[in-house]
Amino acid sequence: MTLNINNQDHTFEADANMPLLWVLRDLLEMTGTKYACGIGQCGACTVLVDGKAARSCSIPITSALGKKITTIEHSEPNSLLRSLKDAWVENDTPQCGYCQSGQIMNALALLKQNPNPTEEEIELGMRGNICRCGTYPRIKKSIQLVIQKNKKL
Ligand code: FES
Ligand code: FES
Repeated sequence: MTLNINNQDHTFEADANMPLLWVLRDLLEMTGTKYACGIGQCGACTVLVDGKAARSCSIPITSALGKKITTIEHSEPNSLLRSLKDAWVENDTPQCGYCQSGQIMNALALLKQNPNPTEEEIELGMRGNICRCGTYPRIKKSIQLVIQKNKKL
């Protein structure tokens, strides 16, 4: 099977029902996407599938075939993902860090859909991504920083 991940085709052998998260972490060694609940409830495993946030622990490979998958490893200068990563660093956003790649990928999907969300829209858009360390205020601040910087461009 072949999946397009971060604009590159990756070919591997796997059972068709294997969740996308297992492909990323175990077969392709892209370990930035995290495994936590494994049942689609926490958001730690969030990636983008055709630009929309998706929980990779709950998607079989077959649902991702022919689609563009974006993970936290994607590195593209001057991109929205780059701006989010920079804002996360600038605000010292993570505590333990475990949930943060999922948070960033969900924020990316949110800003792709709505480049100028209100505070309430950010809270609503991010509320399914759980942070056991309670970094929610810094996550929101980092998203708002990206919005402010984009307005100045
Ligand atoms: S690990 Fe996928 S939603 Fe929790
Ligand atoms: S930073 Fe620790 S779970 Fe979010």
